[in-house]
Amino acid sequence: MAFLIVPQVSGWTEDPKPSTSIDYKKLKNPMPYTKKSISRGRNFFIRVCAQCHGPDGKAEIDVIADATNLTNPKLYYSGSTDGEIFRSIKEGAGVSMPPYKTEIKKENDMWHLVNFIRSLWPKDQRPELQEEKKAEDKEDSKIGGN
Ligand code: HEC
Repeated sequence: MAFLIVPQVSGWTEDPKPSTSIDYKKLKNPMPYTKKSISRGRNFFIRVCAQCHGPDGKAEIDVIADATNLTNPKLYYSGSTDGEIFRSIKEGAGVSMPPYKTEIKKENDMWHLVNFIRSLWPKDQRPELQEEKKAEDKEDSKIGGN
């Protein structure tokens, strides 16, 4: 009979892998910093981010919220490593930066955005531009960009 006694443990479930446990700061950008990656990131930026951050990332336009000027990493509130920028895009940042994990389907596109954002930084703080790999050319050429 003892088997019929079901313990009442409601509201006490443990999430095996809460998303907050990801150490974003240590994440490495899997997309090499190339002209192609930057221009793919720029395409996304103009479409989805420029309305708040401005086409040049400076947020000098008449914005809805007080969006971060992305051209100076020193002004970032939420961290300026590749992984932290990725997190701001994916999970949102502060109060008014919306999360893009559903709207931007491919994580790699968020990483292209990270590369574009870094291309806006002062020259001495930008990563070194890498050579394009031939193999990537085919897929990328469909997207357009410049
Ligand atoms: C609805 C307006 C809005 C849109 C659209 C938007 N942002 Fe933001 N973003 C903000 C605001 C406001 C902040 C400042 C949040 C805070 O820290 O209070 C911000 C912060 C950020 C940060 C963090 C900067 C920091 O302070 O650490 C990054 C990175 C960023 N945005 C990138 C993007 C990218 C990339 C896109 C497009 C995919 C985008 N944003 C779209 C409003 C927006």
